[in-house]
Amino acid sequence: MNILLIGSGGREHALAWAIANSPLTDTLYAAPGNAGIAAEATCVALDTSDSSAVITFCRDHDIGLVVVGPEGPLVAGLVDDLAGAGIKAFGPKKAAAALEGSKGFTKDLCARAGIPTAGYGRFTDAETARAYVREQGAPIVVKADGLAAGKGVVVAMTEDDALAAIDACFDGEFGAAGAEVVVEEFLEGEEASLFVLSDGRNALMLATAQDHKRVGEGDTGPNTGGMGAYSPAPVMTEEMTARAMREIVEPTVARLAAEGTPFAGVLYAGLMITDKGPQLIEYNARFGDPECQVMMMRLKDDIVTLMLACVDGTLDRVGARWRDEVALTVVLAAKGYPGIYEKGSEICGLAELGGDPALKVFHAGTRAEDGAVLANGGRVLNVTALGATVAEARARAYAAIERIDWPEGFCRRDIGWRAVAREETRG
Ligand code: AMP
Ligand code: GLY
Repeated sequence: MNILLIGSGGREHALAWAIANSPLTDTLYAAPGNAGIAAEATCVALDTSDSSAVITFCRDHDIGLVVVGPEGPLVAGLVDDLAGAGIKAFGPKKAAAALEGSKGFTKDLCARAGIPTAGYGRFTDAETARAYVREQGAPIVVKADGLAAGKGVVVAMTEDDALAAIDACFDGEFGAAGAEVVVEEFLEGEEASLFVLSDGRNALMLATAQDHKRVGEGDTGPNTGGMGAYSPAPVMTEEMTARAMREIVEPTVARLAAEGTPFAGVLYAGLMITDKGPQLIEYNARFGDPECQVMMMRLKDDIVTLMLACVDGTLDRVGARWRDEVALTVVLAAKGYPGIYEKGSEICGLAELGGDPALKVFHAGTRAEDGAVLANGGRVLNVTALGATVAEARARAYAAIERIDWPEGFCRRDIGWRAVAREETRG
């Protein structure tokens, strides 16, 4: 079948690579894609916020499946519009994508279903939110309710920081996303991500991963979209994963189905592993970026078969097998990211890195011009490697980075530090 992939990040390059390798794929299109995706797919300029333009494209190109990478179009209801036009699309409809689109929605759902998560309050005015913070004390966490590109969360160590965060939200720092604020209890523990497919009824565990959200080594500096990741996450033992499925994911899927808004797509649970067990920090309604890149390196089964099973409600008839190896990815970003950075510098040395099946460079913000690859965004490349251990995958990824000639870029030098430290103490 012909497939249309929506998105332009490293996540979508990894998905394009996996989809292009599927025996079910005839022609793969990507909108808008990037310089790396162009090697796997025909890139097309399509306004993906215009559902009728996407529907027309699908009809003209006999598209059998649309794969929606990022959260924006999911929360805006693109999958609803495609389904209404009789076009299969992988990803949740708007009502279920609210798991990512509204933090308050998710907190209330957790409360109704008895899912372990931080205690919270929802507020639409600053005064009541401020009073709640004064009553609860610090540390405390302040979140803009809506989509804020990962920037809407302040983990406040003092009451003053929390009050300032509340004011910033209601003063419009995040636009409409900050018109409502969730204030929640500070959770202590180690973070991990759990990725699960659902067809609305069944939940199929995919894999675990850990991200590195801060820009600086030792997890310091401002938050980013993610500077590197590995899979699996050592903290997610078989027992911890089983608990998270039983106590968090399965009740979520069941509750949404019972309420008439079933979730079909990939459910990304951000967890805090506390001394009481797993607690939900947040849900996303899509694959993680860069977590998807490490997952696609490890997936042995056909991604298109799995996605179709989600759309068709037949997830109980398929399974997902994974390589035993660890995969690790290091993000190369433009100097200045996550603040102001320049676009347009040339990246050399990528062609020489081909040929090693344990290494793959996924493109994020890149574009091709006259045969050259140019930086075109904040996060630009994801250098991704397999290894028997995290240390081995990491050594392979950093060795490849040494061979990439891009003076305008930078990366964190310590991706995987937590897992490598665990490997070292285990001996
Ligand atoms: P979120 O966008 O909700 O995942 O929040 C971004 C980051 O803020 C998370 O990855 C955590 O590191 C941190 N965070 C969010 N909620 C909490 C919480 N309740 N307790 C401690 N840290 C949190
Ligand atoms: N890497 C974090 C995210 O995709 O939200």
